[in-house]
Amino acid sequence: MIDGRLDGLCGDAVCRERSGGFTGAAAPPILASMAILDIALMGNPILAQQAALVDDPLDPAIAALVADMEETMAAANGVGLAAPQVKRSLQLVVFKVPAERTEDGVGLPFSVLINPVIEPLGEAIDEAYEGCLSVPGLTGRVPRWRQIGYRGIGLDGKAIEREVSGFHARVIQHECDHLWGRLYPSRMRDLGSLAFVDELYRQVQASRDDSRDVEASATAEEEE
Ligand code: NI
Repeated sequence: MIDGRLDGLCGDAVCRERSGGFTGAAAPPILASMAILDIALMGNPILAQQAALVDDPLDPAIAALVADMEETMAAANGVGLAAPQVKRSLQLVVFKVPAERTEDGVGLPFSVLINPVIEPLGEAIDEAYEGCLSVPGLTGRVPRWRQIGYRGIGLDGKAIEREVSGFHARVIQHECDHLWGRLYPSRMRDLGSLAFVDELYRQVQASRDDSRDVEASATAEEEE
């Protein structure tokens, strides 16, 4: 998942993130030697099917896949990636939760979740913009359970069980949807919010320029 961060954010935050590589600028030379995997795009049948359970989370091949997925996610400036997105139909997702995106300021570093199960906690639903590496260039508002419990297995073979909310819950729901063959547009209530990220940035920039014009003319009037 790409963190769209368009919800109530000022243009500065959007532009900073953009300069971090959102638009797919050329990768730094150091990344050239890493195993950046090819990402399946919407329309590829592997994204529409139920992924298979991972038989042995301790299989070295799984660790190797996770290492490549970590590099692929970082190179794409993503916050989550599911194995079917790199054309491996397995129930495995990697993700991270940036601290600044959580209410309590406690994030989660790069994490692995194998054979996950999710259950909603409560009825509350939040809607926010999401982006997806398999749906490049687009973003849309997606309803998700505000609070969920999830469990699965880590790369060390140990059980993981968490109760989370907000952005953490959103990332997990988005990534696990990939394992059930769902992409975020199919979760949207209203496709009217589906938009090109570049166009939304232009709109944010234009509204900032407008407000600056208003401030400038107000200042000029005061000085007259
Ligand atoms: Ni995605």
